[in-house]
Amino acid sequence: MSAADRRDATSGVDTTGHEWDGIRELNNPLPKWWLYIFYASIAWAVVYWIVMPAWPLASTYTKGLLGYSQREAVLADRDEALAERAAHGAPLLKVTPEQISKDSGLLEFALANGKAAFGDNCAGCHGAGGGGARGFPNLQDDDWLHGGSIDEILRTIRVGVRSTSPETLGGVSMPAFGRDGSLKRDEIENVAAFVRTLSSLAPAPTADVAAGGRIFATRCASCHGAKGEGNREMGAPRLNDAIWLYGSDQKAIVETLATGRAGVMPAWESKLDEATLRSLAVYVRSLGGAQ
Ligand code: HEC
Ligand code: HEC
Repeated sequence: MSAADRRDATSGVDTTGHEWDGIRELNNPLPKWWLYIFYASIAWAVVYWIVMPAWPLASTYTKGLLGYSQREAVLADRDEALAERAAHGAPLLKVTPEQISKDSGLLEFALANGKAAFGDNCAGCHGAGGGGARGFPNLQDDDWLHGGSIDEILRTIRVGVRSTSPETLGGVSMPAFGRDGSLKRDEIENVAAFVRTLSSLAPAPTADVAAGGRIFATRCASCHGAKGEGNREMGAPRLNDAIWLYGSDQKAIVETLATGRAGVMPAWESKLDEATLRSLAVYVRSLGGAQ
């Protein structure tokens, strides 16, 4: 086909020479502005490959002349934030945890810091204000499984209860008398009914409370005390008060006795810095029930 044949008579533009059923394709050049942007993009890509991290290699990647790394940028930001927080928290480390409450400036800082850390780390289990839930102790009351002095609270937060820390509290758990078969069903019902009487709750009418009391003396008192007064060393809760971790109705107590209980409080020592741990202890104690 000659050049003249290829020209489209109507538009005067060359065609590509392709033809489908008498329809021919015009061969319009690309617009200049489009081409320039296209070339500029290519040039930009080449520059980018040279200065920024770009190409994957067998075990690494091209680092680029600027050596920029998002990961390092994030780590640097984090280190800066941690250093800033540590600097703010440093005064808390200069006094004993007990003394923090005696200095209004330190106390104010510790409470604000502790409140924020509590929301981030603890509220999921203990509730937003430390109000607790079934199996998760209320931190606002005057009843402490593991001690309510600031040092004891700090210790609980540090090492946890039945946690993975080698120093964890809660070396003993509540045995599963039902599951391990050491108490029969009716014995469990009886001792559960007796446990209710320790805190002046009405026992189940069908239960033999006296028989339950005899079982309590031999099987339970070693941990919970003869009158159910509890044993903090063991983390065995008081049973003669109105505060229940797992519920006070006959059914809940029977379940506690049948399946056992082993609440887990994580250890925070390795996850939070010392100033935050101290702030948390001060904050938790401020929630109420300070001893
Ligand atoms: C995974 C759930 C969970 C998280 C998260 C958690 N705790 Fe606990 N915490 C528990 C449980 C369960 C217990 C009760 C352990 C037991 O049965 O003795 C407990 C016990 C405690 C106690 C002892 C209460 C007492 O009566 O002596 C304190 C204090 C405490 N937690 C503070 C905290 C703080 C502060 C945080 C956040 C840094 C936190 N907890 C995060 C589950 C949790
Ligand atoms: C080896 C020590 C040990 C013995 C023996 C023991 N308990 Fe416990 N008990 C515990 C511990 C520790 C807990 C707390 C478990 C937790 O915090 O998750 C507990 C929890 C309980 C609770 C739950 C209290 C609440 O606030 O909800 C009840 C009820 C209870 N025990 C009753 C009994 C009775 C009744 C017996 C005897 C048949 C008994 N326990 C024997 C250690 C013991």
